[in-house]
Amino acid sequence: TDHYAVIGNPIAHSKSPDIHARFAAQTQQDLTYDRLLAPLDGFLASVQKFVGNGGKGLNVTVPFKLEAYAMASRLSERARAAGAVNTLKFENGEMLGDNTDGVGLVTDIVRNAGVAVAGKTVLLLGAGGAARGVILPLLHEKPAKLVIANRTHAKAVDLAERFAPQPILEVSDFGALDDAFDIVINATAASLASEVPPISPRVFAKRTLAYDMMYGSAPTPFMQFALEHGATVRDGLGMLVEQAAESFYVWRNVRPETAAVFKELRDKL
Ligand code: ATR
Repeated sequence: TDHYAVIGNPIAHSKSPDIHARFAAQTQQDLTYDRLLAPLDGFLASVQKFVGNGGKGLNVTVPFKLEAYAMASRLSERARAAGAVNTLKFENGEMLGDNTDGVGLVTDIVRNAGVAVAGKTVLLLGAGGAARGVILPLLHEKPAKLVIANRTHAKAVDLAERFAPQPILEVSDFGALDDAFDIVINATAASLASEVPPISPRVFAKRTLAYDMMYGSAPTPFMQFALEHGATVRDGLGMLVEQAAESFYVWRNVRPETAAVFKELRDKL
């Protein structure tokens, strides 16, 4: 039996143990997956203890994704681009740091929502960790353009400059947005405060998929705003399940089915 866990602070609310237990049962993988509460000043020690006890991998959540990035002995390209690690794999004395959040988002949009990113115009709202984590996987899909817009404009500029200059990657002010996009992704923390980023409703058209990385039992304020202006909406529950599936694949080299797990989680919200 191989041991895995999700580590964070707080951690009690995490749905990851549920998700991975279902993946393991479905693929007949012999593993356990627990919740690990690390003290705010004790991430390193907690990870070392877990590895010392033979643990094979960790999911890392708030507030430790940057510490996990710093701690990893090897980083995937997508972890490097994200500047954060949500998946650690312990193998042959090495600590591989990966980040599956962006691929989770892209898989949820392309496969589950059935909306191609290739050739489409994409607006990414926000320039914090959540936004940074999804840029490289979005660029890999070859959108027609990817516009980053943030309340604090300078942060959007700094974020874009981390990536190779390319004509499809642009930065805009909230106030300057005036055209409709095919896909609008809310990666700001505004929903946490029941707020909506102050953008023009003209970014939404009937063809638009408005995606909020947050999720809940009801549509977020961003989703309500987008719905009022004719867009199709989706919340981040699918991203949660797909990033978990990608982590499972990183550890086990087996791809679990996500549709049934997604439906069960949705019914329980
Ligand atoms: P996360 O890791 O969730 O991305 P973060 O790094 O603190 O958290 O980034 C929060 C993001 O949400 C930022 O882009 C922030 O905008 P600023 O850079 O201007 O602070 C954005 N944000 C938070 N509250 C917001 C609000 N009420 N309206 C619009 N944007 C908001």
